[in-house]
Amino acid sequence: MAKPQISYTCQNCGAHSTKWAGQCDGCGEWNTLQEEAPLSAGPGKALKGGRGRKLALTDLSEKEAPPPRTASGMDELDRVLGGGLVPASAILVGGDPGIGKSTLLLQAAAKFAHAGLKTFYISGEEASAQVRLRAARLGLTDAPVQLATETSLRDIMTTLDEERPDLVIIDSVQTMWSDNVDSAPGSVSQVRATAQELTTFAKRRGAAVILVGHVTKEGQIAGPRVVEHMVDTVLYFEGERGHQFRILRSVKNRFGPADEIGVFEMTGGGLAEVLNPSALFLSERGEPAPGSVVFAGIEGTRPVLVEFQALVAPTPHSQPRRTVVGWDGGRLAMILAVLESRCGIPFAGLDVYLNVAGGLKVSEPAADLAVAAAILSAREDVAVPAECVVFGEISLSGALRPVGQTENRLKEAAKLGFSSAIAPAGGKIRGRDGMSLREMPDLTAVVGEVFGAG
Ligand code: TYD
Ligand code: MG
Repeated sequence: MAKPQISYTCQNCGAHSTKWAGQCDGCGEWNTLQEEAPLSAGPGKALKGGRGRKLALTDLSEKEAPPPRTASGMDELDRVLGGGLVPASAILVGGDPGIGKSTLLLQAAAKFAHAGLKTFYISGEEASAQVRLRAARLGLTDAPVQLATETSLRDIMTTLDEERPDLVIIDSVQTMWSDNVDSAPGSVSQVRATAQELTTFAKRRGAAVILVGHVTKEGQIAGPRVVEHMVDTVLYFEGERGHQFRILRSVKNRFGPADEIGVFEMTGGGLAEVLNPSALFLSERGEPAPGSVVFAGIEGTRPVLVEFQALVAPTPHSQPRRTVVGWDGGRLAMILAVLESRCGIPFAGLDVYLNVAGGLKVSEPAADLAVAAAILSAREDVAVPAECVVFGEISLSGALRPVGQTENRLKEAAKLGFSSAIAPAGGKIRGRDGMSLREMPDLTAVVGEVFGAG
C-alpha cells in the first residue's frame, strides 16, 4: 500500500514542497516549512487510471446578467466594495485590535439585513451579551441580524448549510478552529483551514462571507498570506490611535477598483461616514507655517486634500535622522538625494521629519513635489502661501512629471477655498476652476521661484 504523501508547507507564503528545507524556496524565509498531512483525501482512488470528465468550455461573451449587488446605504463602505456586496464572494477585513472592525461590521450587518439579506454575525471573541450591548449603544437593536457566539468551524458550517444565509460575518478568523487540523486556534494551519472552508461555502451557496482578521505588528494579516490569495477582496481598516478618523482601504478587489478608500469617524455612537474627507483632514490646520504644505491627492477615484508637515533641524547625532509617518521612507530618501545633487541643497547634518496630518497613509508618487516643498519650506523657513496646493511627480533628473487627474485635483482644491496650485509644466489641463496655476518644469525652478533659494 502506498504511504500517504507527506508534504511541507511554508507558514509564511504557503508554498508547498515535498521535502523539508531550512529556507523556503518561495519567499526566502527561514524555518517556516512545516510538515502537513493533507486536509482531505482529495479525489483519491476514483482518479486512478480512469478518464476525467470533459470540461464544458465557453467563450468570453456575456450570457448572464452580472449578479445584483446589494448596497448597504453606507456610501463609504459601498464604494470600497466596488458598488455594494457581491453574492458568492469572500471578503477579508484586516486591522489592528481596537481600531473598530467589529463596530464597522455590526453596523454594516444591520444595514445589509435591513436591505433584505439574511445576515448572520458569528463572533468568536465576544459573548452574545457583549455584542448585544454594542448593538444597543449603536442603536441597532431592531435590526434583523442573527447572532451567535461560536468558535467550532464544524458547528458553524453545519448551521450555515442548513440555514443558507446571504451574508455571514465571522469575527474573527483567528478565533475559529477546525477539529481536523491538529493545531491551536490562531495558528497558520487553522486560519487557512477556516478561510478555505468559508470561501468554499461562499462559492457553493452563493453567499457573501466577510472574515475579520487581526493584523500583526508588521501590519500583515496574521496567518498565512495565502488567506489574501483565497478571498476575492481584501480590505484594511486603518487609523491612528488618538485620531478619530478611520480609513477603510481596498488593497485587492476582484469585483471593483483596488486602492479605493472610505473615510469614517469614530464617535460615541459608532462609526459615522465622512463624505468630505478633505475638509476633515485640513480642519486642524492653523496659520500658514513653514514646513506645512497641502497636497492635492487622489485616493482611489476621489480627490482628497491632505497636509504634509516637515521639520528640518540640525542633528545632535553623527547619523542624521530621517523619520516618516504616513509616507514611504525610501521615497523620502530619493527626494532628499534629488534636492542635494540636482538643486545643490545639502541635508548632511540635518534631521528630517515628515508627517501626513490626520493619520492618512499616502502612496501616490504625485505627492513627491508636496514632500519636496514641505522639506524646502521647513529648511528655508519660508511658508508656502495658505491658499496654495501642490502636486507632481519628481524624476531622478530633477524634472517634474505631470500626473493624472489634474482637473479633479484642481476642482477639489477650488471647492475648499484654495486659489493657486504649484504643478508640473506640460500637463494638458482642460479645466482650471478659477485656480491660478504655477507650472514648473523642474525642481530647481520650484526652489528658485517659490523659496528664493538655491
Ligand atoms: P471594536 O469594534 O471592538 O474594535 P476591533 O473589533 O477592531 O477590535 O472597537 C473598539 C473601540 O471603538 C473601543 O476602543 C471603543 C470604540 N468605540 C467608540 O468609540 N464608539 C462606539 O460607539 C463603539 C461601539 C466603540
Ligand atoms: Mg473585534
